Amino acid sequence: MECSWKTVLLLVCASLGVQYTAIRTLRDSLCPGFAFLCQDSRWRALCADSWVPVELPRKHILLFATTRSGSSFTGQLLNQHPAIFYVFEPLYHVQQAFTNSSSRLRRTLDRRALLGAYRDLLLNLYTCDLHFMENYIRPEPQDHVTSAFFRRSSSHALCSPPVCTDGVDATANDPPDETWCPKKCGALNLTLASLSCLSRGHVAIKTVRVPEVGDLRTLTEDPRLDLKIIHLVRDPRAVLASRMMAFADQFRAWKIWNATGRQPRYVDLTQITSTCKDMAASAETGLRRPPWLRGRYLLVRYEDLAFSPKDKAAEIYKFVGVEMEERVRTWIAKNTNSNVSAPSEWNYRYSTTRDSRATAESWRLRLGFDIVRAVQNLCNDTLALLGYRHVHSVAELRNLSHSLVERRTFKPVT
Ligand SMILES: *[C@@H]1O[C@H](CO)[C@@H](O)[C@H](O)[C@H]1NC(C)=O
Ligand SMILES: *[C@@H]1O[C@H](CO)[C@@H](O)[C@H](O)[C@H]1NC(C)=O
Ligand SMILES: *[C@@H]1O[C@H](CO)[C@@H](O)[C@H](O)[C@H]1NC(C)=O
Ligand SMILES: *[C@@H]1O[C@H](CO)[C@@H](O)[C@H](O)[C@H]1NC(C)=O
Ligand SMILES: *[C@@H]1O[C@H](CO)[C@@H](O)[C@H](O)[C@H]1NC(C)=O
Ligand SMILES: *[C@@H]1O[C@H](CO)[C@@H](O)[C@H](O)[C@H]1NC(C)=O
Repeated sequence: MECSWKTVLLLVCASLGVQYTAIRTLRDSLCPGFAFLCQDSRWRALCADSWVPVELPRKHILLFATTRSGSSFTGQLLNQHPAIFYVFEPLYHVQQAFTNSSSRLRRTLDRRALLGAYRDLLLNLYTCDLHFMENYIRPEPQDHVTSAFFRRSSSHALCSPPVCTDGVDATANDPPDETWCPKKCGALNLTLASLSCLSRGHVAIKTVRVPEVGDLRTLTEDPRLDLKIIHLVRDPRAVLASRMMAFADQFRAWKIWNATGRQPRYVDLTQITSTCKDMAASAETGLRRPPWLRGRYLLVRYEDLAFSPKDKAAEIYKFVGVEMEERVRTWIAKNTNSNVSAPSEWNYRYSTTRDSRATAESWRLRLGFDIVRAVQNLCNDTLALLGYRHVHSVAELRNLSHSLVERRTFKPVT
């Protein structure tokens, strides 16, 4: 190919969207006699090895998890990054809109349509169109402003400039408080939120509402997105214990079981069973590396993250392709090494935790052996696939020196 001004212009244009190393490779292979151009001041910048493109390619990160699997904690690793626009569970609004509120059981009207609406919203958020949320937020926003944005305080970008001029950081040491941000910042201007999104390099979204990774396929194949899926899993026995604490009303029968050691006949086993099925199905799909998921899927066990937060966080950032920032490291240091002995997860429904290791294991002291055995039977395949050991006695269950997490590496797919 000839090395013409046209080629150079092409390279300049391309530089807006392609990483520096890719540009350099392109430059060197297309134009072996490129050097003479460097004498022209207009193009000198292109020649310098220190040259960095104006805009790095945007990453679209999905923290794909299940309820009470440690996703709030894991989400903080992304939320703390100044170049990441993080949204905590925007799909809540879609689910609310699709749920028949007049029915006592709050049934979802149409599962397939719901999943389609989830994907639409994700795509629009990844392209920073926060106005798309207005279709689902109840009550309906007026003049693109809303006071009903779900868990807004969990998103750093939605509580700091330019969205909120008064925004101060909720420091990591503050007790989690879901109301501080609306109190400080007033209603949320979705236009400003969109601008804030555009001004940050990357977008990360956390959700626990998509059942299986296969439900995301049209997004991984979408050429407008560079989707990176972090699949967060956790020991189902721990998930159940955590749900029992957080949603006591819903789990009344389980709590009776836990307290008496006798299984009530009306206890609902379907929820934990489908959680396990979905978790295993997604992990199997991801580890099989189908072409539409290749390089886009990382399996992370919450326990590994809780036991070695620094290493795991580094692995996550490497997979995502974003440089880890000092602020993320500081947050990890502050929130995982503390001496707080009572795991704070139990004190607050949605809090992250100060002592990640103790929290990850605390279920073993709080769950009756009977229930543990039942979950082991219901989730046998899932436990085996993800490397969680069965316990065979109460003593084994309560002995925290005996690890229930097998050493495993789930290789990042590249
Ligand atoms: C919502 O549920 C109620 C009660 O089960 C039912 O009568 C009504 O038809 C449902 N509405 C829709 C739109 O399905
Ligand atoms: C929301 O922000 C935009 C952009 O700054 C501004 O033009 C608009 O007036 C704001 N809306 C309201 C209701 O304040
Ligand atoms: C934990 O507490 C012990 C004793 O109170 C103290 O020596 C140690 O420095 C503390 N560690 C951290 C990380 O605060
Ligand atoms: C189960 O019961 C024990 C007491 O027997 C209690 O300490 C624990 O908090 C209960 N666990 C849950 C998850 O409710
Ligand atoms: C779980 O499955 C394995 C094989 O995958 C089997 O050997 C084991 O007996 C099963 N355990 C239970 C409790 O069902
Ligand atoms: C607890 O587990 C460890 C490691 O498996 C073992 O060495 C120890 O004997 C166990 N302690 C009790 C009291 O069973």
